[in-house]
Amino acid sequence: MKHFLHISDYSNSELWEILKLAKELKSKFHLRENHKIFQNRSLAMIFAKPSARTRVSFETGFEWMGGHALFLGPNDIGIGKREAIKDISRLLSRYNDVIMARLFDHDHILELAEYSTIPVINGLTDYNHPCQIMTDIFTVWEHLEVIDNPKIVYMGDGNNIVHSWLQLAMKIPLDFVCCCPEDFKPDTATLQKAIDSGISKINISHNPTEAILNADIVYTDVWASMGQKDEAAEREKLFSSFQVNEDLIEKSGKKTFFMHCLPAERGREVTDGVMEADYSIVFDQAENRMHVQNAIMAYLFEKNK
Ligand code: CP
Ligand code: NVA
Repeated sequence: MKHFLHISDYSNSELWEILKLAKELKSKFHLRENHKIFQNRSLAMIFAKPSARTRVSFETGFEWMGGHALFLGPNDIGIGKREAIKDISRLLSRYNDVIMARLFDHDHILELAEYSTIPVINGLTDYNHPCQIMTDIFTVWEHLEVIDNPKIVYMGDGNNIVHSWLQLAMKIPLDFVCCCPEDFKPDTATLQKAIDSGISKINISHNPTEAILNADIVYTDVWASMGQKDEAAEREKLFSSFQVNEDLIEKSGKKTFFMHCLPAERGREVTDGVMEADYSIVFDQAENRMHVQNAIMAYLFEKNK
């Protein structure tokens, strides 16, 4: 059974196949073409954390393609609390065709996938967010027209978003810089694996003005992720010099696009001015979640036939 848990589980050519399919599906969606290839299929969406984009894009996207999506929030099935993960996994496999899950603990999604007889898609864990970064590279491709070696400068916390960028960098050549405070570097093993793959140029920086030089893309995310919101005030002090603002963007010295997975905390990791600037492509990114995820699901149905 092929799942979508980490970008690094896929080869470069498989990733390209998904990206090209996403492009096709996006154009069909914009032309309002009838493309109901998910007819009679059902998607179970498990959310242990809040969501706007992931929930709406999966549900709307799946239904546009003719399927039926079910929202299972934290109080509905109580995954791992009311019932063991492996029991939920086998139960949903009997009713549904695909599972998308947003969970805290990464081991829990691995367990969900291990016992599932239908594909499992990772909709974010504390460790990574593969659907987001597949969408992000698709958006980079749309705006830069090439995706080989773009300079992507990530400012902020070395979190789940960074881990997925690093896993993408193991397969697609990037010039990737994670610019973060000393104590907020990404996971050492993931970073080392990305470096050892030899596919991309990977750097860790603690100096925003140096890091941003020649950036094609400047990317940021919240300083306190879901599950860390009680640390927000403390983190605000530690991260303040990593804020993406108009002055910093100017220091890139070239035409730079701004990206953010959203939701953004305006005034913290990014200013209102940058969010609203003409170089901000955050809503293209958000829209593309739907097309890329539809492509991932169509790909999984095809490969798991
Ligand atoms: N970017 C993202 O996953 O957004 P949500 O948390 O709103 O789903
Ligand atoms: N790092 C953020 C990403 C949200 C899409 C979080 O985990 O909350």
